[in-house]
Amino acid sequence: MAEERLDVSEAQIASHWKEEGYYPPSSKFVAQANMTDEKIYDRMALENVPDCFKEYADLLDWYKYWDEILDTSDAPCYKWFKGGLINASYNCIDRHLAKNRNKTAIHFVPELEEERVQHVTYQELWVRVNEFTALLQDFCGLKAGDRVTLHMPMTAELPITMLALCRIGVIHSQVFGGFSGKACADRIVDSQSEVLITMDGYYRGGKIMDHKIKANEACDEAAKQGQTVKKVLIWQRHPGKYSAETPMVEGRDFIVNDLLKNYYGKRVEPVKMPAEAPLFLMYTSGTTGKPKGCQHGTGGYLAYVTATSKYVQDIHPEDVYWCMADIGWITGHSYIVYGPLALAASSVIYEGIPTYPDAGRCWRIAQDLGVNIFHTAPTAIRALRKVGPDEPAKYDYYFKHMTTVGEPIEPEVWKWYYEVVGKGKAAIVDTWWQTETGGFLCSTLPGIKAMKPGSAGPGMPGIHPIILDDDGNEVPSGEGKAGNICIQNPWPGMFQTIWGDRDRFVSNYFKRYCKDPNSKDWRDWPYLTGDAAIMAEDGYVRILGRIDDVINVSGHRLGTKELESAALVVEEVAEAAVVPIKHEIKGVEPDMFIALKPGYEPSEEIIAKVQKALIDEIGPIAKARKVWIVPDMPKTRSGKIMRRILAAISNNTDVGDTMTLANPEIVEAIQEMAKKFDKK
Ligand code: WT7
Repeated sequence: MAEERLDVSEAQIASHWKEEGYYPPSSKFVAQANMTDEKIYDRMALENVPDCFKEYADLLDWYKYWDEILDTSDAPCYKWFKGGLINASYNCIDRHLAKNRNKTAIHFVPELEEERVQHVTYQELWVRVNEFTALLQDFCGLKAGDRVTLHMPMTAELPITMLALCRIGVIHSQVFGGFSGKACADRIVDSQSEVLITMDGYYRGGKIMDHKIKANEACDEAAKQGQTVKKVLIWQRHPGKYSAETPMVEGRDFIVNDLLKNYYGKRVEPVKMPAEAPLFLMYTSGTTGKPKGCQHGTGGYLAYVTATSKYVQDIHPEDVYWCMADIGWITGHSYIVYGPLALAASSVIYEGIPTYPDAGRCWRIAQDLGVNIFHTAPTAIRALRKVGPDEPAKYDYYFKHMTTVGEPIEPEVWKWYYEVVGKGKAAIVDTWWQTETGGFLCSTLPGIKAMKPGSAGPGMPGIHPIILDDDGNEVPSGEGKAGNICIQNPWPGMFQTIWGDRDRFVSNYFKRYCKDPNSKDWRDWPYLTGDAAIMAEDGYVRILGRIDDVINVSGHRLGTKELESAALVVEEVAEAAVVPIKHEIKGVEPDMFIALKPGYEPSEEIIAKVQKALIDEIGPIAKARKVWIVPDMPKTRSGKIMRRILAAISNNTDVGDTMTLANPEIVEAIQEMAKKFDKK
C-alpha cells in the first residue's frame, strides 16, 4: 500500500466525477446578450496578450490614455496601462449623469420588511459622494495614497464611502462587518490606517446589533500593536438617532451625519489618478498566518471588472442586478460596486439574512424590485434549497441570468438552481476566481458557450489557464487527470502585490513554476492559483478545491468535492463535508459529515444510502469510515464550511479558535455526538 502511494504524483488527482451534458442558453437570452461574437476568443488569444486588453480599457473614460499597456520591468509586480490617468469614482458615477441621472444606482433593502427600501439615483449618489468626499478631505485631512479602514455593514453608505475615498485617491480597506474588532485591528495595523469608518448598528436576524462596540475594541487592540487611530467616523443606521449602546470617545469619535451638515452642497473634482495607483486593499484570511492585504490597482482592476460584468454578468444599464455577497468580500467589491456601477446598472444591496423572516424573502425581493440578474454562492443555494425548496415557484420574478461563485457547485445543486430558482429560463455562469485575481478567471460567456453543471467553463477571453503537474509539465486536457491550475499570462484585474510584502507575493503565487527569477518576461512567471483542477477535452475546467483539501486514500487522491458531490445525490442530504482521518494502512480515510433537509430524521438508512452513493459514484475506495449526521455545518461568516474543525473533532484533536465562525455553538453539539460515538 505504502509503495502504491509513492507512485502517484503530488498533483495527480484521479477524477471520478462523470462529465455532465451541455445546457445551451435560450435564444431569448442570446438575442439580447452583450457578447455573442465568438471571435473575442481569437482576439484575446495568448499571442495577443497584453495588447488585447485595450478592448476592456476602452469601456472606461480616461483623462489620459496610457503610454505603455503593460510594464513588466518589476515582474511579477506588473503595471497595467502605465502613464494613463483615470478616476474610479468618476467612472462609476459622474459619467452616467448625462444619460442616467435619474436612474436608480443602488436599491438598499433593509432587513426589516416594515422599513422602506431606499432607491438611490445616480444624481443622489453623486451628491452624497461629493459631500462625503469634502468631509474626508477637509475634516480628516485625507489625501491620495493614505489608507482608511472601513468596517461597515451592508448599507448604501458603504459604496458611498468607497466611492468618496477613491474620488481623491485614498486607498480603502473594507473589513467584513461580521468580523470581530480584533480582526479589524489586525487590518488597521497592517495597512497603517489612521482613520476608521464604521456604522453604529445594523440589523441581523431581526435585531439591531451594536456594531460601534467593535470600533472601540479595534482601536484599543490596534493601539496595543502600535497603530493609533486618530479619528473614527460613525455613520448612523437611522440618521439623526444613535443606535448603539457603546459610548462615543471624545475627540476621536464623530457622527458622520452631524458633520455632513457642514458640507451640504460641496462638490469635489475627482483626482486624476495614475492607472497603476492602488485602489483598495482586500485582506484574505488564509487558514494560517497573518492576513494578506491583496493590493488592487485602479485602471487595470476597473477595466477588468467592468468588462467581465458586461460580458459575463450580461449587465445592461436597464438591468436590475442583485449579487447577494457581502461587500466585505472581493465579490462585493468587483460585482456589487465597481463593475455594475461602471456600467450604470441598478445594484441591489440587501442588509440581512437571506432567509429572514422566512424562506421566501429572496424571491420577494426579486419580485418587488424586478431583479433580472441574480448572483450568489453554492452555500446560499444549498441553504435556500434546504429551507424552502418550493418557495421560488410562489413568486413572480424572472431571472434572465444567474451566477454561482465561491466553491465548486455539485451538479445536483446546480440543477436545482437551474430548474427551480431560474425556472429553467436563466443562463447560469459558474465563475471561478479569487480575491487575488480581481475578477473571473474561468466561466462560460453566457451568450456564446453552453453551460455544463459542475464545470466553471473555459478560461475567460485573455485568461489562459494551464494545468501543471508537480514537475511543471502540462497535464493534457481530456485525460481526466488533475493538477495545479495556473494562469500563463498577466491580466489587468490581478492584484499588484501583497501590501508591504513583495517577497510573500512572489513566493506564494509565482515561485513554484517560475522559469527564471530574474526574468522581466511575463511568460516566465505563471500564476499559481493553489487550486486543483481538471480540464476536459472541450477546455472546460472543473475545480476540485484547494490543493490542500485533497484526500489521499491508499494512494488514490480524491478531491473532497467529488466525495461531497456523491453524497448530495442522496435525496435527504442538504450539505456534505468530507474530512481526512488518519489510518495506519490507508494513510487516511474519509469521514463524511452530512446535514439533512428539513423534514428528515437521522436514520441508519440514510447513512447506508450515503455509503452506497460513495461506492456507486466513485468506488469502494471512497467508502467513509463513518457518516455523521449533524444538525448543521460549522461555517465561516462567508459561508465556507470549516473542514478544519470537523477534522479536529474526527481526529480527536484540539478544534482551536472557533470565534470566527458564524455558528460557534454547533461545534459543541458535534463534539457531544463524537463522544457518544467513541464510547460505542
Ligand atoms: C477560492 C478563492 C471568487 C470570489 C469569492 C471567493 C474557490 C471560487 C469557485 C468556483 C470552484 C471556486 C477556489 C478559489 N472558488 N469560485 N466557481 N468553483 N471553486 O474568493 O475567498 O479568495 O476564494 O474559492 O478554491 O481558489 P476567495
